Amino acid sequence: MSLMRTMILATAALGLVPAGALAQAKLKVGLMLPYTGTYAALGNAIENGFRLYVAEQGGKLGGREIEFIKVDDESDPSKATDNVNKLVKRDNVDVIVGSVHSGVAMAMAKVAKDSGTLLIVPNAGADTVTGAMCAPNIFRSSFSNWQPGYAMGEVLAKKGVKTAVTITWKYAAGDEMVRGFKEAFEKGGGKVTKELNLPFPNVEFQALLTEIAAAKPDAVFSFFAGGGAVKFVKDYAAAGLKKSIPLYGTGFLTDGTLEAQGEAAEGVQTTLHYADGLNTPRDNAFRLAYAKSYKLQPDVYAVQGYDAAQILGSGLAAVKGDVAKKAEFIAAARKARIDSPRGAFSLSAAHNPVQDIYLRQVSAKENKVIGVASKALTDPARGCKM
Ligand code: BEZ
Repeated sequence: MSLMRTMILATAALGLVPAGALAQAKLKVGLMLPYTGTYAALGNAIENGFRLYVAEQGGKLGGREIEFIKVDDESDPSKATDNVNKLVKRDNVDVIVGSVHSGVAMAMAKVAKDSGTLLIVPNAGADTVTGAMCAPNIFRSSFSNWQPGYAMGEVLAKKGVKTAVTITWKYAAGDEMVRGFKEAFEKGGGKVTKELNLPFPNVEFQALLTEIAAAKPDAVFSFFAGGGAVKFVKDYAAAGLKKSIPLYGTGFLTDGTLEAQGEAAEGVQTTLHYADGLNTPRDNAFRLAYAKSYKLQPDVYAVQGYDAAQILGSGLAAVKGDVAKKAEFIAAARKARIDSPRGAFSLSAAHNPVQDIYLRQVSAKENKVIGVASKALTDPARGCKM
């Protein structure tokens, strides 16, 4: 409970403030996101989406106005524990929302688990956050790394692709998306012949592209995002590989990046829980509202921020804004049906979205939906005991 709220409760108990004053205390939301570095655009889109949902509710969730306290986590896991502790211990936030990078999110999950603070993860896919580290007070509005990777493995195996080389940054997100891909691809009869990596956030791809050319696989599967994805897709095309070895990936490879990637991204197929051209009334309304507010087109990160606010709102509505009623908050958020622009979804027992994974293809600078790769895909939540 925040210090301010404790003081109001104490004075209310003494009969010194009118009961209505309690409802007016602002809910403190700690936004721990990257605002600099290769994932900066992702952090900004998440914040925009979150704020849009709050604005649509008249600026309040569960009757409480929101006060935002922001931390730039720089996508740096080595600073993550200090950063999240500032929000929890110094700023006494009621809920933490973050982050983008899986390594940062794992440090946040540890602090949330130890302190009992509510955490809503609006991007980072670290499998362990809703796996071995799962906890009643930890929710995710995005995906597990396994989900879009697994879906692409199924797609390529069904296409009859026999061999694939994988390429990604060497940290939890890349490792786990590749693992999910390999699990489904090899189950379906394919073979991953080489796994290539480079440290996050390096973008010196040339030597690895030369290795791909020499290996001559049927396909390449990749995970990069943000600024790194822009450079990778352009370098892949510039190396002349695009025509000979088709490039695939999880949708982060081309989401929010198409203006900068231009022609190099045309035709690339990816799997993700959001796409352009869904053309549902819900998504159309969201896209219009987002474009009006920010003079920008939304991407998957904006959707995940918007849905993080929806999860928070569903819990707060059940407790009329009183986050101290944690068990009731958790029960309501857990069973909420989230009316997402991606399509409505529910949360699994481990608090990860159970959702359709779309197959998309880049066409005229859009990630056009061309099918559903995997219907209502549930993360296996390996190691979660709750
Ligand atoms: C991650 O680190 O989990 C991640 C970062 C960017 C896009 C997708 C996943």
